[in-house]
Amino acid sequence: MSAPCKAEAARVTLAPRVDRDWAYLVQPDRIHQSLYTDPALFPHEMTKLFGGLWTYLCHESELPAANAFKRVRLGLRPVVMTRDKSGAIHGLFNRCAHRAATICQDDTGATARFTCPYHGWTYANDGRLIGVPFDDGYGDAFDKSLHGLRRIPRIEAYRGFVFGTLNPDMPSLADHLGAATELIDEFIGRAPGGEIVLGAGSFRGVFGGNWKLVFDNAADGYHPAFSHRSIMDMTRIRNGGDKGGRHFATNPDNSPMYCKAYPNGHGLLHQRPGMGNSLWDRVRPTPGSEAQVASLVARLGEDGARAALEGVPGGGINLNIFPNLLLIGNQVQVVEPLVHDRTQLSWYATTLKGAEPEVNQLRMRVAEDFPILGETDDLEMFERCWEGMRAEEAEWVMCGRGSHRADADTLDPVTGVRTVPPTDEAPMRNFYRHYADTLSRETKLVVA
Ligand code: FES
Repeated sequence: MSAPCKAEAARVTLAPRVDRDWAYLVQPDRIHQSLYTDPALFPHEMTKLFGGLWTYLCHESELPAANAFKRVRLGLRPVVMTRDKSGAIHGLFNRCAHRAATICQDDTGATARFTCPYHGWTYANDGRLIGVPFDDGYGDAFDKSLHGLRRIPRIEAYRGFVFGTLNPDMPSLADHLGAATELIDEFIGRAPGGEIVLGAGSFRGVFGGNWKLVFDNAADGYHPAFSHRSIMDMTRIRNGGDKGGRHFATNPDNSPMYCKAYPNGHGLLHQRPGMGNSLWDRVRPTPGSEAQVASLVARLGEDGARAALEGVPGGGINLNIFPNLLLIGNQVQVVEPLVHDRTQLSWYATTLKGAEPEVNQLRMRVAEDFPILGETDDLEMFERCWEGMRAEEAEWVMCGRGSHRADADTLDPVTGVRTVPPTDEAPMRNFYRHYADTLSRETKLVVA
C-alpha cells in the first residue's frame, strides 16, 4: 500500500541560463529592442529576476499588528505576506496545498487563519495546515504538519522595506543593496522617529508596454524638461520666475544634480542638490497649505516651522532598486509586470512617524502632485515607446549618452559606484548589464 498523501519536499531547482547572444543584445551604447518585445523572455524574467534576486514585497508598516496580511506577487507567483501572533513576518504562497486554489482574495486585512474556499482546508497565518474537512477520508497516515502552505524561504528587511528571494545563493539583502542604502537612509532619515509609514493605500495605474521602460525612465535626468514641461513651468512660476525651481530649465548637466549607477543594477537621479537650500521653497503649488503652515508657525515659531517643513518636500529623489522598487520623492513605487506588454505601477504615499501632524497632512497633499501631474506624462511616453517598438526592423534602443566619459572620471574603484551628470544614461546601461548577467547564469531556486 502506498502512502496516501506524500509531502511536497523542499526542492532545489536550477533555472537554466537563457540562451541568447547577450554581448550582441546589450552593447555599451545600445540595447536590442527584442529585450522588450520578445514574449519568450518574460517567463525567464519572472523566474530569474523576480525571485532569483532580492525582490521587494511590502513595507513592515503595511503589516502593523499581529494577524495583518497583504496580498502581493513575487513575479507572477501569488503571495500573501502575513504577520503572525509572535510578530514574525511570513511570505506564503497564495496556493492551497490541496489543489492549488488561492486561499486569499482580499488585498489587505487581518486574520489568524485562511480557509480555502474550494474544499475548506484551513491554514494558520504562519502557513501551518490546521484543518482538513472529513480528514478520515485520508486514512491514518495523513500528517497535517507536512502539508502547510509553501513559502518564500528567505525574507529580509532593510529599514522597514521587506524583500524576499528563493535563491539560497544570494548574498544578504544589505549586501545586495550595497551603497544604494545611502539614499534609503536619507529617505527614512527625514522622519524624526526614523520610520516611515505606508498607511494610505496606493494609487494604481496600468500601461500597455514592457516593465523595463519604467527603469529606463526612472533615473533619466534628460527627459523632465521636455516630457514634464508643464509641471516644470508650474514649478518655475510658483517659485518666482528666474529665481528658483529652474533645475531643469537649462542644461541639467551644468547643475549640481547627479546620477549614480550602483552595483547590482540599482540607480539614482538626485535632483535635490539642484533645488536650492530650502526644499520647502521648491515644493510645487499645494492649494490650502497656508492653513497647515500657519498652524506650524503658531506652535513652533518661524524657525521651527521652516525646519519642520523640510520634512514635506515630495520631489527630488529617484532611487531605483533592481528589479521592482522605486523611491520617488516621498513615495514608494512598485513595478508589477503583468505580461510582457502590460505593467502595473502602484504608488504608495508615506508619512513620517513622529512628525508634526501638519507635516504629514502636507505630505499627503504633495503625494497628489507628481502621480497626477507628472506620472501621466511618463505613462504616455512608455506607451509611445511601446508603439514605436512595433517597427521591428528598427532594432536598437540607444543608451550611450555619456558613455564617452572615462572610468577614471566617473567610477569609484572601491565601491563600484559610478557618479555622472544627470542626463548621462549610465544608470540605464548599468541596469541592462545586470539584467543580462543574471539571465545568462543558472539560478538556484528553493521553495520551503
Ligand atoms: Fe483548497 Fe481543495 S483546493 S481545499
